[in-house]
Amino acid sequence: MNAISHSVSQFVNREQVFDFLKPQENPLIDTRHNVLLYLEGVNKTFDGFKAINDLNLYIREGELRCIIGPNGAGKTTMMDIITGKTRPDTGQVWLGSKINLLKMDEAEIANIGIGRKFQKPTVFECLSVWHNLELAMTGVRSVWGVFRATLNGEQQDEIQRVMALIGLQDHAQLMAGNLSHGQKQWLEIGMLLMQKPKLLLVDEPVAGMTHQEMDRTAELLNSLTGEHSVVVVEHDMDFVRSIASTVTVLHQGHVLAEGNMSDIQSNPKVKEVYLGE
Ligand SMILES: Nc1ncnc2c1ncn2[C@@H]1O[C@H](COP(=O)(O)OP(=O)(O)OP(=O)(O)O)[C@@H](O)[C@H]1O
Ligand SMILES: [Mg+2]
Repeated sequence: MNAISHSVSQFVNREQVFDFLKPQENPLIDTRHNVLLYLEGVNKTFDGFKAINDLNLYIREGELRCIIGPNGAGKTTMMDIITGKTRPDTGQVWLGSKINLLKMDEAEIANIGIGRKFQKPTVFECLSVWHNLELAMTGVRSVWGVFRATLNGEQQDEIQRVMALIGLQDHAQLMAGNLSHGQKQWLEIGMLLMQKPKLLLVDEPVAGMTHQEMDRTAELLNSLTGEHSVVVVEHDMDFVRSIASTVTVLHQGHVLAEGNMSDIQSNPKVKEVYLGE
């Protein structure tokens, strides 16, 4: 090998990866415990008010976690931080050990697999259940696109699967505007599922639901575990009890307690700030 080809081969050496091209990694994340979402030492102050105060939260792959806490505890702000809507002042927020969420904007975070459901359902009322799910899957920009698009067998199966999961398989052609409030909420969860999120954030899903719809929602969220991690913020204690998952209590932007529902209910600090209200 002459000198020139030697230096060229050195230059294009495939083993060499420039530092700026290497994926970042957070060595503090303990991947042995399958942590999917990692928040550590997160702080956020709004006009001198500490909404999030040294918050640590670790969500495992496939787990369903309930977050409770009094009004103003920072639950929605926490979700805003995870989804990139709000930037924390300090702290670490990672998805797995390689994806630093603080380096990404809202759209990028949605694209890498974090879906968020706001309280108010935002389905397309004048489209059928099927077309709503189709739109969510294909990401067709124009609503008219769904009438023209042809789906392959796999895509059709996926829509059928999600429709069954959200209990709307008998309403495929029904206009979303004609669904009950609870059914609209399930359809929106279904629309998020079409994008196969790793993590689903759900803010107060059962507000305004009947008891029967609440039970069905608990079943639905439970059925997502394993495949997806789900974080549910909810005020309704009967609902949280029925989900029977790990519960995190937020208070003044900080984790006050964490455990199963009976640990939480017997915790004196929790009784004082929340359950005893
Ligand atoms: N953009 C903002 N600007 C100023 N203050 C804010 C902002 N967002 C949230 N806050 C404040 O931060 C605190 C936490 O609010 P947050 O909405 O996160 O609470 P929450 O736990 O979701 O409450 P709730 O149970 O009522 O939904 C509140 O005191 C709120 O007024
Ligand atoms: Mg809130």
